[in-house]
Amino acid sequence: MELFIDTANIDEIREIARWGVIRGVTTNPKIFAKEGVDLRTRVEEILEIVSGPLSVEVTTNDPAEMIIEAQKLAAWSKHIVVKLPMSPAGLEAASVLKNKGIKTNVTAIMTVNQAMLAASAGATYASIFYSRISDLGHDGLDVIRQSAQLFKQSNFTTKIIVGSIRLLTQINDAALAGADIITVPYKFFPALAYHPQTELTIQEFLNAWQGTKTLA
Ligand code: E4P
Repeated sequence: MELFIDTANIDEIREIARWGVIRGVTTNPKIFAKEGVDLRTRVEEILEIVSGPLSVEVTTNDPAEMIIEAQKLAAWSKHIVVKLPMSPAGLEAASVLKNKGIKTNVTAIMTVNQAMLAASAGATYASIFYSRISDLGHDGLDVIRQSAQLFKQSNFTTKIIVGSIRLLTQINDAALAGADIITVPYKFFPALAYHPQTELTIQEFLNAWQGTKTLA
């Protein structure tokens, strides 16, 4: 299991990358729009910090345009993964791009059937949106677990990314359900690291050390 960070904010990426815990970055047009920066400039800044997969999404629903956008994005860096919508057009583009050697991430997956199609089309990654599945009254964890089982028994090489994380507990739940990658919003990283009992214990040790005469 690997952790990615789900943001295009450079300060957030820099801070968490220093911990040595993130292997890649995911973005989407909404995440990028929030930053209000030039896309290519920010992509280059991110890749200076994290030299791993960086998902950047196409901004069209037309398959031919998706392929053109994807080729432009992929030419920027070997680390670019082109995010495509889960749709007939997105599947068509994923299939063409696989044959061109361009890595893809089929996104906004809500069902096992959609995950199965993404893998069958040859997507490098399939992004299952945990909380957005729950928003519809379904169990996101079931979708993750069943997709992971299906990919394993079908020998699909497509990796499952779990996104749309809104609760801390979803991170370990998704990992244990078989996600290959969890893409985590920035705010959860400090929360993952923190425990009050850890803080108290470390402080207790530091307090005990104060005033000792044993320092060399
Ligand atoms: C993942 O790749 C997406 O960027 C992200 O997790 C979407 O989740 P949300 O819009 O439900 O927060």
